[in-house]
Amino acid sequence: MQVSINVNGEQRSHEVEDRTLLVQYLRDDCGLTGTNIGCDTTSCGACTVLLDGESVKSCTVLAAQADGHQVTTIEGLADGDELHPMQRAFQRKHGLQCGFCTPGMVMASVSLIEENPNPTEAEVRAGLEGNLCRCTGYHNIVEAVLSAAEEKQGAAE
Ligand code: FES
Ligand code: FES
Repeated sequence: MQVSINVNGEQRSHEVEDRTLLVQYLRDDCGLTGTNIGCDTTSCGACTVLLDGESVKSCTVLAAQADGHQVTTIEGLADGDELHPMQRAFQRKHGLQCGFCTPGMVMASVSLIEENPNPTEAEVRAGLEGNLCRCTGYHNIVEAVLSAAEEKQGAAE
């Protein structure tokens, strides 16, 4: 089937098999390999992207389901050389080690503070429950998200 998906602001059309997962489509057809695959059981969140602004695990969505929709991947967050505030916060607070979970973690975090601009630490931890990190112990990730939320609140005032 033919799918037409707006990926990071660019309209793309590809012929895909009906069973093609969105994550496969992004990596194999669009060449956007920043979205990682860490499991095949919907457990790890490494493949998290935004679908019409909402975070989804792209290994649980078919490319066909994204037909006609907008997808944002980690490659679409920065504005040219300027990192997205959430990326900057992860850098500032050392919210990563090996970096494998990071694209998914950042995308989930962007969506989290969109939905809840002033989260508590517990809300951040609950919001990122679906994203696993085997390295950091989560502490600095949570700090990064709280810091990004604080920065965003400050900018809004
Ligand atoms: S690769 Fe999608 S949740 Fe693990
Ligand atoms: S930084 Fe290594 S899995 Fe999260």
